[in-house]
Amino acid sequence: MFKKTTLHLFFIFWVFVPSFFYGQIEYLKGQNIKNGEELFKANCTSCHLLGDEKKARLIGPGLNVEIFEEYTEEWLISWVKNSSAVIESGDEQAIAIFEEYNQSVMTAFPTFSDDDVRDILAYIETPPIEEVQEVVVSSDSESESNTLSSQTLVYIIVALLVVLMFTGFLKNSLKRASNIDETFLEGLKKWIVSNVAIIVIVIIFGVLSFLVWGWQELSKIGIRQNYKPKQPIEFSHKIHAGEQGIDCNYCHSSARKSKHAGIPSANVCMNCHANIIEGTHTGTKEIAKIYEAVGYDVDTRTYKQDYEEKPIQWVRVHDLPDLSYFNHSQHVVAGKIECQECHGPVEEMDVVYQQEKLTMGWCINCHRDTKIDLNNPYYHDYNDWVEKHKKADLTVENIGGLECGKCHY
Ligand code: HEC
Ligand code: HEC
Ligand code: HEC
Ligand code: HEC
Ligand code: HEC
Ligand code: HEC
Repeated sequence: MFKKTTLHLFFIFWVFVPSFFYGQIEYLKGQNIKNGEELFKANCTSCHLLGDEKKARLIGPGLNVEIFEEYTEEWLISWVKNSSAVIESGDEQAIAIFEEYNQSVMTAFPTFSDDDVRDILAYIETPPIEEVQEVVVSSDSESESNTLSSQTLVYIIVALLVVLMFTGFLKNSLKRASNIDETFLEGLKKWIVSNVAIIVIVIIFGVLSFLVWGWQELSKIGIRQNYKPKQPIEFSHKIHAGEQGIDCNYCHSSARKSKHAGIPSANVCMNCHANIIEGTHTGTKEIAKIYEAVGYDVDTRTYKQDYEEKPIQWVRVHDLPDLSYFNHSQHVVAGKIECQECHGPVEEMDVVYQQEKLTMGWCINCHRDTKIDLNNPYYHDYNDWVEKHKKADLTVENIGGLECGKCHY
């Protein structure tokens, strides 16, 4: 009897190991999540969203259950109460995260009790589902829709293991009924032999899922197509560039002059919003954030004296890795390429997202296919060369657009 029970325990163990790693484990049972939620919303949401550390980044990282793997509860409590003190104490983890976030300082909350902080942590651990801020991926995204989530795969494997265990259990019960006594090892051996088909299927399936998952994850590295972060102000291109017809260059004026297109400062917004204090969709709420940034008093319509401006922390959408070089004016002025060819119909987007993959292949394909305009004054420096090639249909490739050194430092 004992031996068969061991056999069962052995399988139960294997069923629970994966669910232990993948399931939601609540470390902080018994805390007052409601209180945590109120405290979080009142004190933390100006800098933190709930969700993936990187994707839901605001001023500080997105917060989620991973902080419990990274830090101890004790560490988290002292951090929230006074992060600068933890950094000054020379704590390595604290210094690392401080440096990663460009040395922005998190507010100290010395008035919180340990239990207050535990309540907040409990809320971060188990927020109401709909509050987790994930990257919103537009519905036409192919890359996302055919991706099996790794969690689903784990659940399938667990389900198969349960079936396996159940058949083992049935078999043993039958054996027990017919009073056949065996040693544990013999029992295991027989059980394996009689279930060999299922075991092989489970193993093959496991290996395959792992490979598929690994491949999907690898091919996603560095590609952020459809990346659509939540911005600190609900600024809508649809309203400004679309409905109001404001030219892209009004706000992104450096796109014609330099490498960067640039994001306008809050002062550019004030050219209009010193007077437009209310929007149709968001009322005064979002526009007030511009005033907060520049220190503008709407009631008196004056700027506050000695106000330290707080630049709006826009979240970067398009971001090539440092190893590559991309120049806006080269494309917009010399190449005469419309912003929309690379950024999509921005004037229809309420929230901007990255429409293209921005991979090396994407740059190269366009350079192979796009003919250059030899009447472009940009080429007058090369007059002899232009004469020589006049008749040929030259593409960017022909002027060296596929040379590694042009795009890589
Ligand atoms: C003024 C902005 C600001 C506020 C308000 C703020 N934080 Fe932070 N927080 C940060 C920044 C920035 C970091 C990154 C570390 C650094 O630079 O100090 C951070 C880091 C953290 C971390 C470490 C996360 C990690 O993944 O390593 C935790 C946990 C955290 N904050 C919790 C909170 C909680 C809870 C509150 C509310 C009580 C809060 N923060 C309020 C800016 C803020
Ligand atoms: C009234 C000012 C304004 C106008 C007009 C405007 N933009 Fe923007 N644009 C912004 C601001 C502010 C941001 C940063 C916030 C955001 O991403 O929504 C931005 C962000 C962007 C981004 C994403 C930047 C990144 O982080 O990668 C792109 C691309 C962009 N704009 C393209 C355009 C194009 C194309 C037009 C014309 C059709 C245009 N913009 C017109 C203000 C403006
Ligand atoms: C050239 C003028 C102009 C500039 C520059 C401008 N806006 Fe606006 N903005 C408008 C107009 C017009 C509206 C529409 C008001 C309405 O909804 O009736 C508006 C509306 C808004 C709204 C409210 C939208 C709604 O419907 O609730 C926000 C938020 C906003 N702008 C943010 C910004 C930010 C941030 C900047 C700077 C990056 C900026 N605006 C620059 C003209 C401008
Ligand atoms: C040939 C493709 C292409 C064209 C055309 C183009 N962009 Fe970009 N844009 C990019 C790439 C690639 C990046 C990312 C650059 C980086 O990370 O260094 C980018 C980044 C941006 C950014 C983020 C801030 C920055 O400077 O990196 C803004 C804003 C932007 N573009 C606006 C515009 C506007 C406005 C136009 C039209 C006047 C335009 N772009 C035309 C490819 C293009
Ligand atoms: C929509 C088409 C298009 C895309 C996409 C595009 N380019 Fe270009 N690129 C051009 C054109 C057209 C020119 C030629 C401009 C001119 O006339 O000098 C050019 C020129 C260049 C040049 C100068 C080449 C030379 O020999 O002078 C560099 C460097 C460059 N692109 C880098 C990039 C990088 C990096 C990317 C991807 C992030 C990219 N381009 C994406 C169309 C494109
Ligand atoms: C037209 C511009 C362009 C040219 C020409 C170009 N690259 Fe790239 N390359 C890029 C961009 C942009 C990236 C970043 C792509 C990304 O983030 O996926 C990149 C990424 C890379 C990477 C990093 C691996 C990766 O896929 O992220 C390597 C290595 C590389 N390029 C090598 C080369 C070599 C070697 C050549 C010459 C045969 C070359 N590149 C020519 C634009 C270019």
